Amino acid sequence: MSFFKALCGICYSPKLDNSLWQYQNGVLLLKKEDYEKQNSMGVYMTDGGLPNSVLLFCGDDGVLYAIKNVCSHMHRKIDPIPGSNTLRCCSIMHSNFDYSGRKISGPASRNLVVYDLSQEGNDILIKIN
Ligand code: FES
Repeated sequence: MSFFKALCGICYSPKLDNSLWQYQNGVLLLKKEDYEKQNSMGVYMTDGGLPNSVLLFCGDDGVLYAIKNVCSHMHRKIDPIPGSNTLRCCSIMHSNFDYSGRKISGPASRNLVVYDLSQEGNDILIKIN
């Protein structure tokens, strides 16, 4: 991760266009194919009524995960780090987390919030707590 990106808090995961998902009654719904078309390990969704940004990513283990996309230190976004089975916030200080959201290192004071994710056919459903 470049120093400039870290300084500015710019994450590597692209934003998924708001027209490709919907949020209603605490459930974020999107099509798996729309996520896969992004050709990125992770994508994030924000605004559109969501209480906070959400990161969706496919881990190195091939499993889809959804987390609250906010580091508890300075509220920076989170990126999956390919080949490491870990997540890292996009700040200079880089807190690192495992896929269960548990902090591994860094100044974050709390673990990440991991959301319940289920799949029904081509639909991905993420229950936002
Ligand atoms: S925002 Fe500072 S370590 Fe994550």
